[in-house]
Amino acid sequence: MGEREDIREYVIEHRLSSVRRVIAVSGGKGGTGKSLTAAVLSLILAERYKVGLLDLDISSPTVHLILGACCEKPIEDNGLIPPEICGVKVMSVAFFAGERAVPLRGSSLSDILKEILTITRWGEIDFLIIDMPPGFGEAMMELLKLVRRVEFILVTTPSILSAEVVRRMACMLCEMGKRILCVVENMSDPEFPVHPAAGGISGAIGERSTFNVCFDPCVEHAIGNAENLLKTRFAHELRCVVEAIESRF
Ligand SMILES: Nc1ncnc2c1ncn2[C@@H]1O[C@H](COP(=O)(O)OP(=O)(O)OP(=O)(O)O)[C@@H](O)[C@H]1O
Ligand SMILES: [Mg+2]
Repeated sequence: MGEREDIREYVIEHRLSSVRRVIAVSGGKGGTGKSLTAAVLSLILAERYKVGLLDLDISSPTVHLILGACCEKPIEDNGLIPPEICGVKVMSVAFFAGERAVPLRGSSLSDILKEILTITRWGEIDFLIIDMPPGFGEAMMELLKLVRRVEFILVTTPSILSAEVVRRMACMLCEMGKRILCVVENMSDPEFPVHPAAGGISGAIGERSTFNVCFDPCVEHAIGNAENLLKTRFAHELRCVVEAIESRF
């Protein structure tokens, strides 16, 4: 089988051959807004492109909640065809797990991850956005192995702790030759910019690629409704990220 250990890796390559770009939304710390960014960015991109959104936070999936897709189910047809929300094809382990938690680790986690990439039929799409769990764990290592061309958007908050972890992540990804499209500094406050000691991220990926997105108190009320999410200030401010993505076409 050449350098591949698992036949599914060939199937994944085939499944993703009709996907133009794969972009993972990642970051070091939990709760910084990765899932919200991945979901809203997918909605924005879907206004002009064909888009898929994959929740790879297997143990704590939330993308289906953000988009109000809880009652949706993929259709079985030589694999699984993801349900569509506002033009975004969404796939999540939550469609199968229902209300239950999915406690997994090690090989079981990487198995589910491979399985979901193997069975999902995205069809011809421009972007596959992937919502990642926090940190450089199992899901990240597996993704880097399975989808070598994956590009990254990193999400941090202005917290020096979050920014430092993302800086390290950015350095490591750059060393691995991965493309970092931009860093989103989420929940930022113009009156309290990020601590200067955490400024090393821009050094790692380039000054122009860091975008500030403010805390938006209205976002919570829009969760579960894709159309309302698109009208939030959060979505408005995230639109500059689309330009960063397009400029790398
Ligand atoms: N700019 C913002 N303004 C207001 N609320 C926000 C903003 N960004 C994120 N949130 C809220 O913060 C919470 C955490 O966001 P989210 O779940 O996207 O983070 P996460 O990084 O994916 O977390 P995890 O690491 O657990 O996966 C959510 O309730 C989300 O709605
Ligand atoms: Mg998340």
